[in-house]
Amino acid sequence: MFQDQLVSYSGVQPSGNLTIGNYLGAIRNFSLYSEKYKCFYCVVDEHAITVRQNPAELRRRTYETLALYMACGLDPEKNTLYVQSHVHEHAELAWILNCYTMFGELSRMTQFKDKSAKHADNINAGLFTYPVLMAADILLYQTDVVPVGVDQKQHVELCRDIAERFNQLFPETFTVPEPIISQSGKRIMSLAEPTKKMSKSDENANAVVYILDDRDTIIRKFKRAVTDSETSVRFAEGKDGINNLMTIYSCFTDKSLEDIEREFDGRGYGEFKRAVGEVCADALAPVQARFRELLADKSALEAQMRKGAEEASWYARRTLGKVQKKLGFVKI
Ligand code: TYM
Repeated sequence: MFQDQLVSYSGVQPSGNLTIGNYLGAIRNFSLYSEKYKCFYCVVDEHAITVRQNPAELRRRTYETLALYMACGLDPEKNTLYVQSHVHEHAELAWILNCYTMFGELSRMTQFKDKSAKHADNINAGLFTYPVLMAADILLYQTDVVPVGVDQKQHVELCRDIAERFNQLFPETFTVPEPIISQSGKRIMSLAEPTKKMSKSDENANAVVYILDDRDTIIRKFKRAVTDSETSVRFAEGKDGINNLMTIYSCFTDKSLEDIEREFDGRGYGEFKRAVGEVCADALAPVQARFRELLADKSALEAQMRKGAEEASWYARRTLGKVQKKLGFVKI
């Protein structure tokens, strides 16, 4: 809560091509809060450098992620859309919160364990303290709700613990945020290995449907999706591939799992996969068209970045100033 306004905050890393997991688990849900909440949605470039990035690609993806926010329906007049590195208070508060976060807490983070296994040659300190920067993002804006996919829940819970610890020492500093996890799209799985999360860093492009994939590619990827040796479209334990496709179909059509079972009763996997591909391609087509228009005007995107950074800084400065005062830092 910031001056009587409820606050929604979330972020996406510009570290790869965004997937339908990012779309269904997070971005699509961001605009649900635009009316009732003061909303901040950030392109978290400082988080992205915890794994090695190509500078030209990082720069391009930062523009693209901002354009995708807008193409997915986030109106920059109703939401503060900005780039993390444009608001220096994030890094400053992260340092302070590092001193109120325990080594043991960070060691338990499953994303750190996964990413350090994947990038064994670069287990840097930033990868380890990543969740503290994420806590700083959220707490700077006195956030009430954080819409994320289920993989980020543990980080938001750690953020709550850090906020509560800090508030105990220095009462009423931070709002303690709640993660909001949409039930339907909370965990979209890989099409090739449906027990694994769909991830933008997957090396197998066929495992992942990108928001910007063209129609034929989308349909082809769903056609190749790994399923099982049965033929009936039903949601059941052990049918991870079909469960995932049913979840995706349900997200794009708003149909319940029971309705989907009824719709495809006796119709086989081939027909079902084609239908999933089609609803996905239909839903993404207008997003892609709008994305291309927005990306064509770089100076408009830069103006948007500037406006977003100015708005965000106003809030960030207030919280950081309050924290520094409570800690005993001298103001000159
Ligand atoms: P990132 O960039 O990995 O993902 C962005 C959002 O997409 C969700 N997501 C998924 N949801 C469902 N199924 C999937 N397969 C899937 N893959 C990704 C993520 O849960 C996330 O909501 N640490 C964050 C970025 C961040 C942030 C924040 C989020 C930085 N600061 C403050 C919220 C608040 C991350 O790496 O997300």
